[in-house]
Amino acid sequence: MTKIINYGSCCIDHVFQIPHFVRAGETLSSTGYAIFPGGKGLNQSIAIAEAGCAVTHVGAIGEDGRWLAELMTTRGVNITHLSVTNTPTGQAILQIDPSGENAIIISGGANLAVHGHLIEAALNEATGDEILLIQNETSGNEIAIRQAKAKGLQVAFNMAPMNENALALPLALIDYFIINETEGEALTGKTDPTEICDAVLEQYPQSAVVLTLGQAGVVFRSAESNLTQAAYSVDTIDTTGAGDTFTGYFLATIMKTKRVELALQTAAAAAALSVTRPGAATSIPTRQEVHQFLSVHAP
Ligand code: RIB
Repeated sequence: MTKIINYGSCCIDHVFQIPHFVRAGETLSSTGYAIFPGGKGLNQSIAIAEAGCAVTHVGAIGEDGRWLAELMTTRGVNITHLSVTNTPTGQAILQIDPSGENAIIISGGANLAVHGHLIEAALNEATGDEILLIQNETSGNEIAIRQAKAKGLQVAFNMAPMNENALALPLALIDYFIINETEGEALTGKTDPTEICDAVLEQYPQSAVVLTLGQAGVVFRSAESNLTQAAYSVDTIDTTGAGDTFTGYFLATIMKTKRVELALQTAAAAAALSVTRPGAATSIPTRQEVHQFLSVHAP
């Protein structure tokens, strides 16, 4: 039975290894190039499935993205409500610098149609104890939020990539805000992590905030809880998809166990493993790998 319905993007990632991020007017030779599966939605669905939670991915690809659908199926994602359209699949161009940091350009493609009928069909199968997960790479998020709440579902919003569209959504209906510091600043106007959490809870007291802080770890705040989790120290080669891995593992563990501390620890371990590998979806670890990592780093 589906526990998480993820209405999210699918992208074909064109990944260039570069000595530094390209500057205005510069033509830069890459030191490596590869095509990877990606899109925040796809990455998060795969992370949820790898974490052992049933997930249905809702969204759209073009004919050029059929291999993404096959990959999701192989990795345990239900794609009954993934549509193949005449519009090409979303595309992303990623620069990865020698420290593993990235800079990304996306072209939304099929992700940008409004998929109200797909959302409705997926929600018609819901029983009410599921979570709807969304990111900010698809159109139709307002419909998704309102339909999910009408069905009694909780809604988790990973506000990435942050822009004015995300801020214009009915945020009072969100149960989990999953944000980084930059997104938190755009949401609240604050830069200090404690002040970001305070401001979110003041404005949206029904919600919980998961604030990721890179090497400084993660903070979880709700009306009842104030928890922190340190980041695990690893050799970083590519940070792409680390946030998606964290989001998927966090929500999956919450749905499976209802234990926030365990969810934070598991998600931090999964994200740490992901940055030691290239690509986004391809870097997401299995839950066996996460358990092995935790047995060494958090025995
Ligand atoms: O979060 C990483 C993802 O962002 C990449 O896979 C890329 O597709 C962009 O959407």
